[in-house]
Amino acid sequence: MTIKRNPRILVFDSGVGGLSIVREIQRQRPGCDLIYASDNAAFPYGTKGESELVSRVDQVLHRLLAHSPADILVIACNTASTLTLPHVRRHFSQPVVGVVPAIKPAAALSRSKVIGLMATPATVERPYTLQLIRDYAANCTVIPLGNAELVQLAEAKLRGITPDMKRLKAITAPFTEHRDGAKMDTVVLACTHFPLLRDELSQCLGSHIALVDSGEAIARRVDYWLDTMQLNGSHQPERHLALFTRDSKEIAELRPALADLAIDALDVVPV
Ligand code: DGL
Repeated sequence: MTIKRNPRILVFDSGVGGLSIVREIQRQRPGCDLIYASDNAAFPYGTKGESELVSRVDQVLHRLLAHSPADILVIACNTASTLTLPHVRRHFSQPVVGVVPAIKPAAALSRSKVIGLMATPATVERPYTLQLIRDYAANCTVIPLGNAELVQLAEAKLRGITPDMKRLKAITAPFTEHRDGAKMDTVVLACTHFPLLRDELSQCLGSHIALVDSGEAIARRVDYWLDTMQLNGSHQPERHLALFTRDSKEIAELRPALADLAIDALDVVPV
């Protein structure tokens, strides 16, 4: 079926982390209308209990889609995807693309077979993540580093606040202190907020460490679904929109970062 409008993709996260995914989708597949949704009313997800998060994601997605229908849903959040994907797939008819830790490509890339895993405290401990490690990185030493403060630092950076390098050094110190830390050559950025701090993290960890995230793979998956559904776009100008689940003064502070991704329309959908 060929439709006479651009495909609409809902990219959903607790905060601004999913913008790292938006960037990749825009790069790989121009011509889509993106609805960026931040559940800022329930931010952060990384410290939430499991049943609370499952029902929150379900509730928010229903509200968001009632406001702005979409052809494809992207759960641009490792913390939510590693827990809620089966539920979301059961409850929505659209293809659902989840963002999960890039452990497989990191393990393949690493020569030393010592890799770091940076994520929220919740993602680091999820059975889903542990299974990925068993399936794809059984031949590696995986050094986990769960941290919620990095999420806040990434949020602040997008609101124009320069990250405190001393704090970042302290946060990444467990890697250096680990007995195999000196051999680590690859780090998985398993939270969509972290690629927003890529330059700063690279400065802290050293340029010899490869930082791997899921952004490109997610954009490829979106591409696959658009082709499969024959949603080829209509060559209309792109119209992007950002939705927030709570009104707050921080929304205005995010305008420049959103404008960088050509997202100029903003709205609040209270949930
Ligand atoms: N961006 C989210 C992720 O990828 C988590 C941020 C949060 O804790 O809300 O895990």
